[in-house]
Amino acid sequence: MPRIHRTAEVSSDAQIGEGTSIWNQAQVREGAIIGENCVLSKDVYVDFGVRIGNNVKIQNGVSVYHGVTLEDGVFVGPHVCFTNDKYPRAINPDGSLKGSDDWEVSATVIKYGAALGARSVILPGVTIGEWAMTAAGALVTHDVPPYGLVVGHPARLRGFVCPCGFRLQRDGEASDVVYTRCSKCGATIDIPMADWRKVQ
Ligand SMILES: CC(C)(COP(=O)(O)OP(=O)(O)OC[C@H]1O[C@@H](n2cnc3c(N)ncnc32)[C@H](O)[C@@H]1OP(=O)(O)O)[C@@H](O)C(=O)NCCC(=O)NCCS
Ligand SMILES: [Zn+2]
Repeated sequence: MPRIHRTAEVSSDAQIGEGTSIWNQAQVREGAIIGENCVLSKDVYVDFGVRIGNNVKIQNGVSVYHGVTLEDGVFVGPHVCFTNDKYPRAINPDGSLKGSDDWEVSATVIKYGAALGARSVILPGVTIGEWAMTAAGALVTHDVPPYGLVVGHPARLRGFVCPCGFRLQRDGEASDVVYTRCSKCGATIDIPMADWRKVQ
């Protein structure tokens, strides 16, 4: 059974997986599909039709808008800001109010195991790769490769991180791959040379 706090508002048309907890004042809209063992903290908003995988943690005050997909194991830090319309306007050129059909939504995908630091802003249409990490406050305007760590305004690729969260250090290379080892747990992970060269 999911655990749903009495102050949360969960649509009867949403699917919530076994073991998922939905905390105070959270709202889950119609057609949303949320997997098993997730935690939706206080004041989280999940828009209509959004898909969230298993074992996803979403911290306080996050709105997951239509067009955003969170795969299994994603961490969303407090007050992360997703966006879904790159060129937003409230009104049309003639001054009339835009309706939902006038809204151009781009798909944003946060892949398996990725983590978004507190108050990151994720621009529309961005894909954040498996196990990637965005620093606290990062303004993410481009796709992030798997294991990539992006930092700053606009966010730049600064290196690569292990599934445990710590930095991967270079440990040799072949023609198309950089061999790395985790500074904390010793895991070895191969990073494609093309991605490694994007570090700034
Ligand atoms: C990006 C991050 C992973 C880097 O950790 P780290 O590798 O241990 O880096 P350090 O703390 O050694 O800092 C290295 C440099 O990056 C800078 N830096 C660290 N975090 C930064 C951030 N979020 N944005 C901009 N610069 C940052 C530091 O100021 C330092 O720069 P300096 O050498 O000029 O002083 C970490 O700082 C971070 O932002 N983690 C996310 C935390 C978070 O939001 N958690 C959410 C749950 S509460
Ligand atoms: Zn590690």
